[in-house]
Amino acid sequence: MNADTEHPNRLTPEPDAPSEPIHPELPTDPAEDTGSLSHVPVLADEVIQALAPAPGKVFVDGTLGGAGHTGLLLAAGATVYGIDQDPFALDRARAANHAGLHVLQGNYRDMVALLAGAGVTQVDGILLDIGVSSFQLDDTGRGFSYHTEAPLDMRMSQSGESAADVVNSYDEEDIAAIIYEYGEDRLSRRIARGIVYAREKAPIETTVQLADIVKRAYPGFSKGIHPARRTFQALRIHVNDELGALRDGLQAAETLLAPGGRLAVISFHSLEDRIVKRFLLGSEVLSPLTKRPVIASEAEQATNPRARSAKLRSAERVGSA
Ligand SMILES: C[S@@+](CC[C@H](N)C(=O)[O-])C[C@H]1O[C@@H](n2cnc3c(N)ncnc32)[C@H](O)[C@@H]1O
Repeated sequence: MNADTEHPNRLTPEPDAPSEPIHPELPTDPAEDTGSLSHVPVLADEVIQALAPAPGKVFVDGTLGGAGHTGLLLAAGATVYGIDQDPFALDRARAANHAGLHVLQGNYRDMVALLAGAGVTQVDGILLDIGVSSFQLDDTGRGFSYHTEAPLDMRMSQSGESAADVVNSYDEEDIAAIIYEYGEDRLSRRIARGIVYAREKAPIETTVQLADIVKRAYPGFSKGIHPARRTFQALRIHVNDELGALRDGLQAAETLLAPGGRLAVISFHSLEDRIVKRFLLGSEVLSPLTKRPVIASEAEQATNPRARSAKLRSAERVGSA
């Protein structure tokens, strides 16, 4: 767990507490979400309006993914440094051979060093479209979906601890804390107990194995949204240290943006949006472009379910370089 996250066990209700949806805006298993099957960039018009790309301008896309947003920045004549921690995403981007795109492998939290390595110390705009991409969700071998049998992996970068490492080696209390903190699941303790009980018999190696363990913690479940949704989200966030990367990435953006430069961050759940909102409120160099986060139009939400939970916050760098 991050040192700055509260240990949630104190707050965890008794194991028998009724399970109620805390965040109805959470998407269902993203692999079920038909939006994940398209590679259409979310809030594309709104991002372009916020970042104002033009010939001669230089941007960082910290979450290159399928290069959907980057394609629009390039089409406006800008140069883009596209970062992704997923080697498969980078292979695809390189193969597409976009003119004006410089591909950098790494974590966007390290963007200052990554850009310095490419000889760049200031940029006109930075985009973070956080979370997993449709390619990652659709790749059944990556272990992000609880419906498809696959190794319990979930590592975007293909390195570090996998989700299987976490469920098979962490203390019960720490597993409960992760599920509570990042999945906001009120049955976190009961799920953690079920995980530890199961792994004593045999290691938990696959997605469906884990999904079944979580399901058993919800004896009343028969149909509807699968109870494993929150646990999978929590493990994915933990394994990829998504919230830590976001905090570091926001700070890095302050360093890298030229005066007048723009930052755009798209988040998909309240844990992320809260971090962005608080960061911008406390920043002395970034001034929000809109008071409230921008959400997708009804038309976009109708055609792209992933857009339903998306929130865009944007800001402009003020002051001297
Ligand atoms: C939601 S997708 C981005 C989609 C992209 N905007 C598009 O239009 O195609 C997120 C991408 O960011 C990558 N990613 C997530 N967190 C990252 C991090 N901390 N550093 C670098 N890449 C990250 C993922 O591997 C994934 O490819």
